[in-house]
Amino acid sequence: MTLIAVAGGTGLAGRAVVAEAVARGYRVRSLSRHLPSDEKRVAGAEYVKVDFTTGIGVATGLEGVGALIETLDARSGAALSALPVTSVAVLAAAAEAGIGRIVLLTIVRAGECSMAYYQAQAARALSYEHSGLAATIVYATQFHDLVAGIFAAGAKVGVIPAFKGVSFQPISTVDVARLLVDAAVADGSGKRKVLTGGPEVMDMKELARQWKLVTGSKAMVVGLPLPGSFGRFLRAGKNLIPDAAVGSVKFRDWMAAR
Ligand SMILES: NC(=O)c1ccc[n+]([C@@H]2O[C@H](COP(=O)([O-])OP(=O)(O)OC[C@H]3O[C@@H](n4cnc5c(N)ncnc54)[C@H](OP(=O)(O)O)[C@@H]3O)[C@@H](O)[C@H]2O)c1
Repeated sequence: MTLIAVAGGTGLAGRAVVAEAVARGYRVRSLSRHLPSDEKRVAGAEYVKVDFTTGIGVATGLEGVGALIETLDARSGAALSALPVTSVAVLAAAAEAGIGRIVLLTIVRAGECSMAYYQAQAARALSYEHSGLAATIVYATQFHDLVAGIFAAGAKVGVIPAFKGVSFQPISTVDVARLLVDAAVADGSGKRKVLTGGPEVMDMKELARQWKLVTGSKAMVVGLPLPGSFGRFLRAGKNLIPDAAVGSVKFRDWMAAR
């Protein structure tokens, strides 16, 4: 049976990937720098301590692996600056270990936003495109968690922000995980690109209204400008891929199920 390794298998997306692959009957190994507590583990998965930045534990972590899914992330500072190089290290380690297929999760049109986080995401995708490995790059729209996180952070100070002129097409990590595992077990060599977006494109005000309804928050939904490159990116709708609305879980249903 194929052993699927998930680099970042303890993270938000990674946990969903581990759960999906275990549910499909694969042997699954999560690789991360910290091991999760027992209650945060997916039953049936293996957890191995690996640091792809320093190389500690990598050779052992990749032993016997048939397919590798990378869901690493870093948000700021030195870790973010190192992220593209870390992804190159993942590719080199996969080649060294003779892994048949490698899959990267990244963000739709990240290269079109000059924000450092998005540029790092774009650089990782380029490394995968130019690698000599059978690689699939999965470009996803923003997760439901990200949109809900913006609303929750604002609500703490009484204001639920609805950025003016901004829509999202948020997707559940469960939907993303399904596509990542599909890609990891697909036959064939060469490079592939998969676009995956949530089931509906929605104005941020409407998403905020739905969030408020489900959470019962008393905070006010307020239209706010979002300056900077991320604001320009979102207002231009570059985060949206309506032609690839493959996700099955709508934001309001995802919220209600939490
Ligand atoms: N958030 C969104 O809306 C969104 C939308 C589309 C695509 N994505 C993509 O999803 C990816 C994953 O995001 P996420 O929110 O799931 O990230 P996350 O929750 O921060 O998880 C990151 C994972 O990577 C591990 N990790 C980080 N550095 C590592 C290293 N050097 N060696 C080994 N493990 C390392 C972390 O565990 P340790 O810290 O224990 O090592 C953790 O398991 C992002 O890179 C992004 O491309 C995100």
